[in-house]
Amino acid sequence: TSVFQGRSLLAEKDYTPAELEYLIDFGLHLKALKKKGIPHHYLEGKNIALLFEKNSTRTRSAFTTAAIDLGAHPEFLGSNDIQLGSKESVEDTGRVLGSMFDGIEFRGFSQKTVEGLAKFSGVPVWNGLTDEWHPTQMLADFMTMKETFGDIKGKTLTFVGDGRNNMANSFLVTGSMLGVNIHIVAPKELFPDQSVIDTAQGYADKSGSKFMITDNIDEGVKGTNVIYTDVWVSMGEESQWDERIKLLKPYQVNMDMIKKTGQPDDQIIFMHCLPAFHDTNTKYGQDIKAKYGLNEMEVTDEVFRSKYARQFEEAENRMHSIKAIMAATLGNLFIPKV
Ligand code: CP
Ligand code: NVA
Repeated sequence: TSVFQGRSLLAEKDYTPAELEYLIDFGLHLKALKKKGIPHHYLEGKNIALLFEKNSTRTRSAFTTAAIDLGAHPEFLGSNDIQLGSKESVEDTGRVLGSMFDGIEFRGFSQKTVEGLAKFSGVPVWNGLTDEWHPTQMLADFMTMKETFGDIKGKTLTFVGDGRNNMANSFLVTGSMLGVNIHIVAPKELFPDQSVIDTAQGYADKSGSKFMITDNIDEGVKGTNVIYTDVWVSMGEESQWDERIKLLKPYQVNMDMIKKTGQPDDQIIFMHCLPAFHDTNTKYGQDIKAKYGLNEMEVTDEVFRSKYARQFEEAENRMHSIKAIMAATLGNLFIPKV
């Protein structure tokens, strides 16, 4: 057995910085195996439940294909399929699923739910996004940064937009763990919660990384290596549209913002966890345009399609990094203490 065996990933802080680094490197290794066509059936014979209270393209697809590549059987259980949250408690659902499945992915609203599933199922539970954290996204994102820049320690990532959402929370904490400087650029109304800042500060003191929380774009993007953004309105917050557009309109990522970094081309990339609103090629985009007169929101189409953009590499890396966390925590493989 290894140090990872049987553990859940509910939030980034469940692991040490060295363990997160190991998982990122393991993801890169599994990507190389996949590209070479080398089998990696670390989860032969395992059953994996995929619980989704919220929609998903990448996380669902990544867990599904990762499980199959690892030799496991994934089973999708959407919120309209099971009784969790309506007729059945987290405790009962967890106990039942834990008796049949070897591992559980959960995406949904409350962090309490994913914690409850881990407690009552007795099997590894992986957080595929809650209102608070998006830890599997962090593995893919720092893996993508590592692919681009090699060593990520001392690099800077600037998250522009809603400084209070799951992505901003996860970046503050995870970047501080890994020695990556994190800048959050957001209007004051959307500055991160003090508890998240305190957690990040604890890690930053040890890793030597610095973070900055500012409403000043020039200050926040100068000298950064990654401009990262996310939707202005996260899943479940749809009632806040008017307010968010008003607050975040000045924070759109555009070419001018990329230039303001002052970086040479090989030292600046754009990333986005996706889905993104960068044109009106969807029904949703058309609706937003009709209501708010915007053709683009958090990022311009020009940046999205530019040479700086890495969002599709990042999306692919969801699969490789999710393989890493599933194989490490559930696979029969020896990983030395890291
Ligand atoms: N980035 C991400 O989690 O995408 P999905 O919502 O499509 O899973
Ligand atoms: N902040 C976004 C992330 C989507 C991957 C949301 O929660 O909807």
